[in-house]
Amino acid sequence: MKKTILEARALSKSFAHNGGQVHILTGVDLDIYEGDFTVIMGASGSGKSTMLYALSGMDKATAGRVMYEGKDIAAMNEKQLAALRHNDFGFVFQQMHLVSNLTLHENVAVPGFLNKGKTTAEVRQRAQELLKRMGIDHISTHLPSQVSGGEQQRCAVARALINEPRLLFADEPTGALNRRNTTEVLDLMTDLNREGQSILMVPHDIRAALRATRILYLSDGKVIGELTLPPYDRNEEKSRETQLNAWLGSMEW
Ligand SMILES: Nc1ncnc2c1ncn2[C@@H]1O[C@H](COP(=O)(O)OP(=O)(O)O)[C@@H](O)[C@H]1O
Ligand SMILES: [Mg+2]
Repeated sequence: MKKTILEARALSKSFAHNGGQVHILTGVDLDIYEGDFTVIMGASGSGKSTMLYALSGMDKATAGRVMYEGKDIAAMNEKQLAALRHNDFGFVFQQMHLVSNLTLHENVAVPGFLNKGKTTAEVRQRAQELLKRMGIDHISTHLPSQVSGGEQQRCAVARALINEPRLLFADEPTGALNRRNTTEVLDLMTDLNREGQSILMVPHDIRAALRATRILYLSDGKVIGELTLPPYDRNEEKSRETQLNAWLGSMEW
């Protein structure tokens, strides 16, 4: 039995628009499990990012619950949410948001320094280990502008992992990368998941979605389908893609 990390029940999100309300999520029920590489798919504008933000405490839901370790994220105050985002979750976005006048090492270490449980030396060491793990330790004293987009995104992944998050959230992490850098970042995330890191990602394209072990399909404000896959294996990518496309067809993708 897999452990549940997040449990969303009747999760709804509406936005005020032109004097009325647009309902983006209308009662989402889902569980996110430990060890999974979960991916959320759905048409553009279907609410994937909105769902990721509501699940991670980056944004408030309009109604419903998101349970994490016995607590309702949707009912937390700003201070509790900030602590949760800082200590328990990691985030990677399409734009890397690295601090331009800090080195790669400093970018990774800074969120660690805010963590009271670790000494400066421990944080520095973990940052260096993560940079090594991401294959960018040899350029750790470079500024973001001095490295490639793929290297910047690998730095952003390292930063997201500095406080050992239980769940790594990623919203189209390869959306701004070329083909080669996309493969680099996806390979890295696949390896991290293989080593046990739980991931929840909105993929930029089918290629990114193929890395999932579990895919949820969002439509009309609800999760309408689910596909479970074995861990990604490069040698079986063609048949995996055929299987995924057939399933997406049944979801009227
Ligand atoms: N802050 C906001 N205010 C109003 N509408 C929003 C806001 N954020 C997102 N939306 C709308 O909600 C819908 C879903 O957006 P989003 O979650 O970004 O979709 P996806 O990530 O699936 O492409 C879109 O129609 C978008 O315009
Ligand atoms: Mg989006």
